[in-house]
Amino acid sequence: MSNNTEDRLLHEPVMVEEVLEYLCLRPGNVILDCTVGGGGHAGKIMEKIKPDGCLIGIDRDSEMLNMTKQYLSNRGCSFRLYHANYSDVDEVLKMANIDKVHGVLLDLGVSSLQFDRAERGFSFSKEGPIDMRMDRSASFMAQDLLRKISERELQELLKKYGEERWSKRIARRIIKERSVRGLKSTTQLARVIEGAVPVKRSKIHPATRVFQALRIAVNRELESLEIFLDKIHNFMVTGARIVVISFHSLEDRIVKNSFIKMEDKNVFHIVTKKPLRPNASEIEKNVRSRSAKLRVAERI
Ligand SMILES: C[S@@+](CC[C@H](N)C(=O)[O-])C[C@H]1O[C@@H](n2cnc3c(N)ncnc32)[C@H](O)[C@@H]1O
Repeated sequence: MSNNTEDRLLHEPVMVEEVLEYLCLRPGNVILDCTVGGGGHAGKIMEKIKPDGCLIGIDRDSEMLNMTKQYLSNRGCSFRLYHANYSDVDEVLKMANIDKVHGVLLDLGVSSLQFDRAERGFSFSKEGPIDMRMDRSASFMAQDLLRKISERELQELLKKYGEERWSKRIARRIIKERSVRGLKSTTQLARVIEGAVPVKRSKIHPATRVFQALRIAVNRELESLEIFLDKIHNFMVTGARIVVISFHSLEDRIVKNSFIKMEDKNVFHIVTKKPLRPNASEIEKNVRSRSAKLRVAERI
């Protein structure tokens, strides 16, 4: 990564004002950013909790952490970064020697820094390997998934994680391409999907949902979220808030249901009855924010 600041600015953090407001930050707080990414939110949080506060950042992507470490240094606030899955938050906090935190942030999905790099394989418009791993030390790529999966399983996966209407036709074409030519690149896969669906009328590219579904499956994103939400309350002081930003309906449903379950158990109080959405000017400036939904709960 050549220019640290320039690279980080390629990921514009979403709903920053809302995150800062709803976390109710105070100087001296210990805050856990479970998806620290390029450090966009983390840097702003550190400004509110300095000089004695501490930011604990987690990310599955070690390349991201190397860059973020530089970006967050010399801000007059201490921080520690951990290469881990946030579903292992208990182990991270143990390593950090921290029992409880004053606030938790989760900003789900991939960052633009990952998405825009062709070699990461997240984008259907950039020629690259069918990789899609957030953690490049993991051995299982989307290509491996596509090599092994049956047509039926692929159809179900596209339906479940992509809510893809044309899952049957797309799965059939992908499996056919696999046996005739082999699946080698993201753009080849995108072309196969384009050819499988009726002429497009939708605003989104026909490969969008398929790529989303493969990414969610390869990284076991929903499983990580569920595991995390079941245990994070154990590590929050009374009054601590958890803020979650999600970008598609499956994630948002998991967050919503988990908060309701925790409220029923008198563990959380739900602060946002309905999810907050970015305002029009943010959507205009940062198109990626358009599908963001932000939910907040407070530890009782
Ligand atoms: C949308 S970005 C976060 C951007 C960040 N808030 C910022 O302002 O720069 C999501 C980040 O979460 C990381 N991530 C996704 N799932 C994760 C998981 N289960 N455990 C740890 N990190 C994860 C991704 O690698 C990515 O860097």
